[in-house]
Amino acid sequence: MIKVDVKGCESFVDSAKYQDYVNKAFEAFDTLKDETGAGNDFLGWKKLPRQITERELRDYEAIRDKWIRKGVDLVIAIGIGGSYLGAKCVMEALSHNFAKQLKRKDAPEVIFAGNNLSEEYLAEMMDLAQERNVACIVISKSGTTTEPAVAFRIVKQYLEARYGKAEASDRIVAITDAKKGALKTLATQENYESFVVPDNVGGRFSVLTPVGLLPICVAGFDIHALVAGALDAMKGLEIKSERNPAVIYAAMRNLLHAEYGFGTEILVNYNPKLTYVAEWWKQLYGESEGKDGKGIFPASVNNTADLHSMGQFIQEGSRVMFETVLHVERAQRSVVIESDNQNLDQLNFLAGKHVEHCNHMAELGTRLAHIDGGVPQMQVSMEKVDAFNIGGLLYFFEFACGISAYILGVNPFNQPGVEAYKKNMFALLNKPGYEEATAALKARL
Ligand code: PA5
Repeated sequence: MIKVDVKGCESFVDSAKYQDYVNKAFEAFDTLKDETGAGNDFLGWKKLPRQITERELRDYEAIRDKWIRKGVDLVIAIGIGGSYLGAKCVMEALSHNFAKQLKRKDAPEVIFAGNNLSEEYLAEMMDLAQERNVACIVISKSGTTTEPAVAFRIVKQYLEARYGKAEASDRIVAITDAKKGALKTLATQENYESFVVPDNVGGRFSVLTPVGLLPICVAGFDIHALVAGALDAMKGLEIKSERNPAVIYAAMRNLLHAEYGFGTEILVNYNPKLTYVAEWWKQLYGESEGKDGKGIFPASVNNTADLHSMGQFIQEGSRVMFETVLHVERAQRSVVIESDNQNLDQLNFLAGKHVEHCNHMAELGTRLAHIDGGVPQMQVSMEKVDAFNIGGLLYFFEFACGISAYILGVNPFNQPGVEAYKKNMFALLNKPGYEEATAALKARL
């Protein structure tokens, strides 16, 4: 179960004001539960942990097994934003840190494309494809996003040239809308095995749909435990209570922001496996809350590395941020620091201690120092980094995001601002229909 501790904020806030924000969180909780708020046609994600069936999970496993039988050892997962970050964050969290170097091959290696427009990236990815046995999962809910469409055109043409059209079709799975979009048309025409992104689930809330589950499964991770962890978290989060971790988190972050002017939240981790949890979280909160001139800017640091870069600023720079520390209660591997007769490095005071103990002391010491430096601290705790706990953590952040955005007074489930850059890009690329915008932009250059 995810726990939230806000003791590190107590010296910064008035307790009566905190209670006001708990009450606001209760109102937002009801809005989310009763589905009466803005964007209420995008609340399908709430029920996913209960709705996912064994049959659905077995369908994903069947694709993985089919590709393994063909000898596939590289799967290119194409997608951007919510069609990329959920799968990436779970895979990074659950992978051995040195899986690539150890060349463990229980399942195909999954790499990502369509999340940038770098020509070098695509060219170098094709260098890798050349040496491997390749399949592809292409993901776009709208089916019209440019970055994945460009990557897919290149990968599709490559697979067809290398394996022939029929075999290429057997090595491509499409995940998109049930009815509309270019990818839907293409998948139907080319007879690709396809999965649907439910209408009522937005991209950044889609990790527990085929969007996240299929790539995670193909990469060999335990999607049953991931969903079980989300379900376990869901059962606790559905209870309206002052102890509900989503209520506490949403109330405190809004209080710090609205009443005390802290405009940036830094998600802090002390385990490199959690780096992409922060990337996923930044999208979830950034896209859900950053609109109508409102929102808390989501940032992240990876400690202890970043204590030697960003640590100075966080300790003594402009006082604009609070921190939310992802605390992992226990490591799953053991490395003990042994005594050394010579003690030239003067580390014998650590003899007999686990490295994770030192990590926890670094974390605790940093939290206390940052409180002294004027940075409020929240702590989100999980037992360990495994599929069950990651499933719970992701569901917790989604649920808290719904409550938090309703306290803030925005629609958490749209992203109108994402269109602005696309319009300019299309105009600059001379896309038909954008002639007026092209002329207007060129006049500014
Ligand atoms: O959360 C969102 O809705 C967005 O980040 C989308 O996931 C992203 O823009 C990709 O969209 P699509 O899946 O339609 O290609």
